[in-house]
Amino acid sequence: MRNFNYDIPTKILFGKNKVEEMMPEIKTFGSRLLLAYGGGSIKKNGLYDTLVTLFKKNDIFVVELSGIQPNPRISSVREGVRLCRAHKIDLILAVGGGSVIDACKAIAAGVNYKGDAWDFMIGKAQVENPLPIGTILTLAATGSEMNGGAVISNDETLDKRPMGHPSLRPKFSVLDPTYTFSVNKWQTGAGVTDIMSHIFELYYTTDKGVFVPDAMAEALMKTCLQYGLVAIDEPENYEARANLMWAGTLALNGMLSFGKLPGDWATHMIEHEISAIYDVTHGAGLAIIFPVWMEYVLDADNAWRFAQMARNVWGVSEKDDLTAARQGIEAVRDFFSRLGMPSRLSDLNIDGTHIAVMAKKACVYGDLGNIKKLKIDDVRSILEGAL
Ligand code: NZQ
Ligand code: ZN
Repeated sequence: MRNFNYDIPTKILFGKNKVEEMMPEIKTFGSRLLLAYGGGSIKKNGLYDTLVTLFKKNDIFVVELSGIQPNPRISSVREGVRLCRAHKIDLILAVGGGSVIDACKAIAAGVNYKGDAWDFMIGKAQVENPLPIGTILTLAATGSEMNGGAVISNDETLDKRPMGHPSLRPKFSVLDPTYTFSVNKWQTGAGVTDIMSHIFELYYTTDKGVFVPDAMAEALMKTCLQYGLVAIDEPENYEARANLMWAGTLALNGMLSFGKLPGDWATHMIEHEISAIYDVTHGAGLAIIFPVWMEYVLDADNAWRFAQMARNVWGVSEKDDLTAARQGIEAVRDFFSRLGMPSRLSDLNIDGTHIAVMAKKACVYGDLGNIKKLKIDDVRSILEGAL
């Protein structure tokens, strides 16, 4: 195990009606709130009305930023920064999935920065003194509710870039699984795929002897297997929604990387390039790329790790590591497909037109990955293998 500092300061309020305990958390930071949300799902499922009543009762001044899109745009971030400055906002409350939360993190970073918020995405500025944010999660997927990362898209340049800073971790997050009852089959399947993909990214390092993070990762993968299809078939199954919600949060709050290298992340970087150009659902892009990436990087040196997952998670009993690894990859592909996810880029009407550009942009900061370093040509081969 490598050295590490355990530090995950986000307070979690988990369970039914936990929103009722949120006001003291808000009041710690003040009484002027930016309420940010997406395209209206929170109005349909009643959460918006609950919040408005709560804020009125507690004398909270509220400014709204609505319409934050999936694959959130820098234009929403700029508007949020403007609103926070104009109304002297104390705290940003993100109500939604990863897109709303990510946009709010970028807004939080931008408010006390003199330049344009896109600068954070291109490494031109470092986050300093961000506004505090809190979240109410409505979709189990990204883990953004308990981490310091954000991914923002730029319509003009067709870029999608990650940023991150420990100070952007939400101060608190409300995780009420009943809010996810209204998530449709597609987004539920994409969310489960994203959770599993985060676990894969963190699992696939060259480190050996890291039994604790490996075993935790395997338990979270099994949770996705146990409950992913249940949540799709029975959207109001509390047990399934609750287990998936907590799995999604734990998958990317740092817990799985303590004591080892911080993960591979090549697949995510490749998927972001697909989303940047084609605006696809993040989880759907991952469902296509992950099995192809696994087949591409698998070799005799790292087969033990693939085989370990195949045996511990997918019930493969094969003794030979390489054969077991291949059976595990097939099991992953089959599970994503049962979640309703696509398996080829052509399923999303994506052809080879932009592959060269995507490969180049994915490697803009250098080689990708950990378990095997990928160069531009490798990324191109993976994308071609996914067509
Ligand atoms: O906009 P509304 O109307 O709310 O509808 C949303 C949206 O259309 C809908 N939805 C959310 N909660 C719902 C609901 N519909 C019904 N009932 C509810 N309770 O779901 C759609 C997708 O929402 P979105 O927030 O985009 O999904 P997700 O949580 O999967 O977030 C994806 C974004 O997060 C980034 C992805 O790249 C993508 O941009 N990621 C962020 C990460 C992070 N910050 O740590 C890591 C991830 O790897 C990922 O890259
Ligand atoms: Zn992801």
